[in-house]
Amino acid sequence: MNNYLRVLIAIEVAAAGLLLAAAIVFYPLASDIGGWGGVAFWIGLTLIASLFPIRLPAGSSVSVGSAPVLSTIVLGGPVAAGIVAIFGTFDTGEIRGRLPWYGTLSNHAQIAVPAVLSAMLYEGALNAADGMGLPPGVAGFAAMIVAGLVYHALNNFLTALVVNARSGQSLRTVWAQDLRIVASSVVGLVPLAWLMAEVFRLPDGVGWWATLLFVIPLFTTRLAYSRYVETRELFEQTIGALANAVDARDKYTRGHSNRVSHIAEAMCRVMKLPESEIETIKWAGLLHDVGKIGIRDHVLLKPGPLNREERILMNQHPTIGAEIVAPANQLKPEAPLIRSHHEWVNGSGYPEGLEALDIPLGARILTIADAYEAMTSSRPYRLIPLSHEQAVNELEKFSGIQFDSEIVPILVNLDREILDRPPDREDELPTMLHAEDPRDESGDESGDQRGDRTGDRTHNGSGSGNAPGSSGSGKAPGKPGAPSDARPGTAEGGAPQIAAAAGTGSADTGTGSADTGTGSADTGGPEPTSPSAHEGNAPRQALASDDVP
Ligand SMILES: [Fe+2]
Repeated sequence: MNNYLRVLIAIEVAAAGLLLAAAIVFYPLASDIGGWGGVAFWIGLTLIASLFPIRLPAGSSVSVGSAPVLSTIVLGGPVAAGIVAIFGTFDTGEIRGRLPWYGTLSNHAQIAVPAVLSAMLYEGALNAADGMGLPPGVAGFAAMIVAGLVYHALNNFLTALVVNARSGQSLRTVWAQDLRIVASSVVGLVPLAWLMAEVFRLPDGVGWWATLLFVIPLFTTRLAYSRYVETRELFEQTIGALANAVDARDKYTRGHSNRVSHIAEAMCRVMKLPESEIETIKWAGLLHDVGKIGIRDHVLLKPGPLNREERILMNQHPTIGAEIVAPANQLKPEAPLIRSHHEWVNGSGYPEGLEALDIPLGARILTIADAYEAMTSSRPYRLIPLSHEQAVNELEKFSGIQFDSEIVPILVNLDREILDRPPDREDELPTMLHAEDPRDESGDESGDQRGDRTGDRTHNGSGSGNAPGSSGSGKAPGKPGAPSDARPGTAEGGAPQIAAAAGTGSADTGTGSADTGTGSADTGGPEPTSPSAHEGNAPRQALASDDVP
C-alpha cells in the first residue's frame, strides 16, 4: 500500500467517524424508523442487498444496497443512515476475509460519509421544500432526489479516489467510466428507496413485512446491472478476439492492434477528450485493420514489397474494415475512423484523399499511433525495429505531411512506459505460425508465398526473390542478397508510402507511377542490395512499412 493510499484511507475513516459522532450529537434518531429495532431491520435488509456486489470495468464495484441506505435517511435521519451504512454494507468478500482490514474500513467509510452528509442535506432540503409550500409528499420526494444525487456522486468520487490511488488510473477516467452506472442508480434506485420508506411507514406493522417484498425489485435491479456489465465485457472480448484474429494472420503483426489501441487511448487522455470519444477511438484502434480479413494471403503475407495491383488491393482494407463494422449499431461511430486511418493530412492518403481537419480527429490520432507501433516492431522487410528515437524522428519529419502536426507531440511526450513494446516471446506464437507450411513442398504455391516460407523473410527481408508481378510459378524464389526488382524507389512498390510522404502519393493511391521525382531521398537511402541493407534501419523504409504486413 502506498503512502498516498494510506493517508487517503485514514482521512476517509476519520471523516466517517467524525460525521457519525456529529450526527449522534446533533440529530436524534427519527421516530419513523421504529427505534433501534427498526435500525436492525434496515441493517439486515441492506446486508441482503449488499452481499453480492457487481464489479465495474474501472475496478470499483456497485451493489443495490444504496437503496435501503437511502430509505433510512428518510426514516431515521443521519444517525440511522450512518449506522446502517457502516454495519449493513458488508459483502461476501469482506465476510470471508478476502479483503485486508483497512480495505474493509475504507469501503465502509466511502459509504458512511456520503450517507451521513446526504442525510443532513435531506433534512435541509425538506425544510426548504416545506418553506416553498410544496405538499409534504412532493417535498419529501424532491428532498430524496437531492439527497440521492449527492449520495451517489460523493460515493462515486470517494471510490474513484481510492481506485486512482491503488491502480494509478486517472481520477477522471475512473469517475467517467462508472458514471453510467451511477446515473442509472440515481434514476432507478432513488425512487425505489423513497417508495420503500413510504411503504415502511404503513401502520399496524404492515410496513415491516411489506418492505421485505422490495427484495424482489432489488434483485431484478442487480440482475440488470450484472447483465449490463456482462454484455459490455462480452462485447469488449469479442472485439479483442477479432483484432487478435486479424493480427494473428501474420506473426509480425501479432499484438499490433492492441498496442495501437493502447497508445491511442493514452494520447486521448492527454488531450482530455470526452470519455465516450476515447472509447470510440480505443475500439477503432483495436479494429483499425479488421479489413485485412478481406485481403488475400498472397498479398497480405507477401514478404517483399507489393506491386501496384497488390498495393491497390491492400489499400482497400480501410474501406472493407469500415463496411465490416458499420452494420453493428454499437460500432457505427468507429466506422469512419477505421475508413480514414490511412488518410494523410496533406491529402495524399487513401481511400478518399481527405485533408487536414476533414479527417476525423480519432483517425488522425490512430494514424500516428499505428505508424509508431509499426515502426517500432519487427516486420518481414525490416527485422530490426526502429528505436524510439528513430521512430519519433520519422513522425516529426512527416509532421504536417502525413501526420497532424498538433497531435505528433502528444505521442512524442507520452511516458516511455506506455510506448515501449513488451519483449516478444516466441512461445506466444500460435502453433500454426511455428510450423512449416506443408505447401512449401508441394510446388503449387505462388512465388510470393514460397519466398515467405523459405527463409528469405528471415535473411533478406523485403524484395528478395519476390519480384513484384511475378507469375507465382513457385520456382526460384530468389537468391538471398541478390539485387531485387522490388527495391525501394521503383514503380513496383519498394517504399510506396514514402514516395507519397514526399508528395507523390502515386504508389499508395495506385494512380500512377511511384516515386517520380523523389529519388533516393524519398526511399530511404541505399537500395537493399545486401542482407545488411535490408536489415538496417533505413528510417524512410520503416515509415513506408506502416501498412505492409
Ligand atoms: Fe491499416
